[in-house]
Amino acid sequence: MKTVNIAIDGPAGAGKSSLAKAVAAKLGYTYIDTGALYRAIAFKTLQLGITISDLVSIKQMLLRTTISFRHINGTQCVYVDGKDVTGKIRTNEISSAASAISAIPDVRSFLLGLQRDIASKENVVMDGRDIGTVVLPNADIKIFLTASVEERAKRRYEEQKNTIGSVTYEEIVSTMITRDKNDSERAVAPLKPATDAIILDNSGFESHQTLESALNIIENKLKNAL
Ligand code: DC
Repeated sequence: MKTVNIAIDGPAGAGKSSLAKAVAAKLGYTYIDTGALYRAIAFKTLQLGITISDLVSIKQMLLRTTISFRHINGTQCVYVDGKDVTGKIRTNEISSAASAISAIPDVRSFLLGLQRDIASKENVVMDGRDIGTVVLPNADIKIFLTASVEERAKRRYEEQKNTIGSVTYEEIVSTMITRDKNDSERAVAPLKPATDAIILDNSGFESHQTLESALNIIENKLKNAL
């Protein structure tokens, strides 16, 4: 059976995961957060005390690593070697480490099969940085979601201020600028819109407006494909 694949790429804090989750719920598709997979590898690397520039140790570590995920009550839980790390991968430290580690080609190829496999078995809404360009180049719909860095940082700050007390807005802006730069300037699978992606800039949008715009794009594309 041919599955329907929807790719949502874009920079940190553009609202990809909220949008992808809402689209998946609306269409009854499976939501896949690929950033969580990079975060899980970053988590294990930091836990083992391996520095991100130590490519040999990272390669060896990957040979002894299993990453998997499962959906429990609509939430994607991520496991490293069978242990649930879902609640531990959202810190600023892991964000930076995931961005750095995702530039390593061995790490990217390690996760590629996992992502393609699920998309070949289920209708998915997958969010990340290279879904439309590398992971699912034949995705039925590709949306590149973006917004100004100030607006993205503001949203992330609102999200985190009550959970991670010590983080300031300025720290988030600075981490975000560095991550955007790392993610879009790396040699392998950099963050960029696929040539056939539709760019959705949601600066100034409420989340329901982003969802309505995305659903319009999806409906039009699927209608034209029939
Ligand atoms: O989406 P996120 O913020 O959880 O992603 C964390 C990091 O993982 C991000 O800075 C870059 C990397 N990433 C990637 O390189 N490719 C993806 N498809 C998803 C995430």
